[in-house]
Amino acid sequence: MSRILITSAIPYINGIKHLGNLVGSQLPADLFARYMRARGNEVLFLCATDEHGTPAELAAAKADMPVAEYCSQMHRVQARIAAGFRLSFDHFGRSSSEQNHRLTQYFAGKLAENGFIEEVSEKQVYSHADGRFLPDRYIEGTCPNCGYDKARGDQCENCTKQLDPTDLIDPRSAISGSTDLEVRETKHLYLRQSALKGDLDGWIDSKVDWPVLTTSIAKKWLHDGDGLRDRGITRDLNWGIPVKKGEEEWPGMEGKVFYVWFDAPIEYIACAAEWAEAQGLEEADWWRWWRTDSGAEDVRYVQFMGKDNVPFHTLSFPATIMGSQEPWKLVDYIKSFNYLNYDGGQFSTSQGRGVFMDQALEILPADYWRWWLLSNAPETSDSEFTWEKFQAGVNKDLADVLGNFVSRVTKFCRSKFGEAVPAGGEMTPEGLKLVEELDARLKAYTAHMEAIEVRKAAAELRAIWAAGNEFLQGAAPWTSFKTDPDRAAADIRLALNLIRVYAVISAPFLPDASATLLEAMRTDATDWPEDMASAVQILPAEHGFVVPDTLFAKIGDEDRADWAERFSGIRS
Ligand code: MF3
Ligand code: ZN
Repeated sequence: MSRILITSAIPYINGIKHLGNLVGSQLPADLFARYMRARGNEVLFLCATDEHGTPAELAAAKADMPVAEYCSQMHRVQARIAAGFRLSFDHFGRSSSEQNHRLTQYFAGKLAENGFIEEVSEKQVYSHADGRFLPDRYIEGTCPNCGYDKARGDQCENCTKQLDPTDLIDPRSAISGSTDLEVRETKHLYLRQSALKGDLDGWIDSKVDWPVLTTSIAKKWLHDGDGLRDRGITRDLNWGIPVKKGEEEWPGMEGKVFYVWFDAPIEYIACAAEWAEAQGLEEADWWRWWRTDSGAEDVRYVQFMGKDNVPFHTLSFPATIMGSQEPWKLVDYIKSFNYLNYDGGQFSTSQGRGVFMDQALEILPADYWRWWLLSNAPETSDSEFTWEKFQAGVNKDLADVLGNFVSRVTKFCRSKFGEAVPAGGEMTPEGLKLVEELDARLKAYTAHMEAIEVRKAAAELRAIWAAGNEFLQGAAPWTSFKTDPDRAAADIRLALNLIRVYAVISAPFLPDASATLLEAMRTDATDWPEDMASAVQILPAEHGFVVPDTLFAKIGDEDRADWAERFSGIRS
């Protein structure tokens, strides 16, 4: 048994996330967390809302609410929807928590003490029309790196390059659209990441098993970009964590707050503190996850995120940890994702394009979405959601293969043998061959889950379901029952046992269907199967079960067309 710390990139507070956000971080993180728990490991799975910075301020202004109130409300909304998708966070925290205030100020103090903070007189863009500075997302323009014309002042979404507002070509205010802008000088704190370049480089070089997507982005900004330019970590905003050096005031920084990308990853740590407090635990209980001098040297720490988040997790946040010169844990493995596109274009929060998490759950239960999204996760390249693909995937994999197997086996048994595992007969050579095949497939599936190869794992699981169906088709117990009822009994005994095995190993993908099946099979034997031969013997003859309700309904052409129409426009 090992200890696994898992974090998902913490979603911005500004509204409900779309399915592209979900499949790029929270959902695969949940898959991994559920799998690791099922294997008997001790897991701490953390997520939170990212509540500071311009996204929060802009959204609150749009909703005409005080920003603190807006954040509390949206946190509750996001927590409810996450529960709807069965995201099994041990804690869903808030980057605005008191714990994060304290830790962020603490890290800044340590970094200053160790000489990694510089006070810089910096050029900021001031908007006459808006009467304020325009940091980060308050300003938009053309990316100097790739020419994308909706780049924001903090980062280009298209090429992932980190930007400063003054880098943008043809800048305009994101609040008013005004181009009446002026560059003014104000004083800010800079994190001297460049002084840690050698350390970061060596650290990333040591991560030979990381996905290419992760290391290539890190390397790109370490070497041929200026990603390791020292960066401002403070802002002229009202909402955020006040700039302090530990618990002391920071002369000259009055009225300023930390930059959202400085405090957000520190929330990964603060969230563990929030979790401990919520559980009535002590500091030592979360330090054993986060401090390598207090037990965390044995923890494996895995992060999940979309590719636009990679520079912050491979460079900026590790620089904060390294620069603190304290034994906080560095990440062991970063699983990153490309983008999921929507029907020939991009999912977009700002443009309201695509399907959002709340809307998805209004249409269909979580398992349908979990399965399609995970089995089509944008791992090696971008992938695309279309209603046709969604319909085809759900109908084929969930209804025709898994659902159909369960329904045929349980209904046939009920009609011929009653609602209990039938006795008699012996496993046939075909049965033995199936068990052998499934044993090899189970090993492959497990290996993909360990390696967080999401699509490969889904493909193997699908193959495991399909093999059961093919066996059933070939064995045709409805025919053999007439001439050789013992043979039919043995085949159905194997098939009923397979339903239990499917429930157990499918649970990370399909937690609700898994629970339904286990209940129908009247079993709480949920240990992960070590080998198939013994796993298919767990339900003995005479063990009672009930026929479950239809596991997955097929998506009809009419529904598909309705939904495609309903989600073709933009969300208001
Ligand atoms: N809120 C960011 C996003 O949605 C992710 C922040 S991840 C963290 O892109 F590291 F800052 F926590
Ligand atoms: Zn760009």
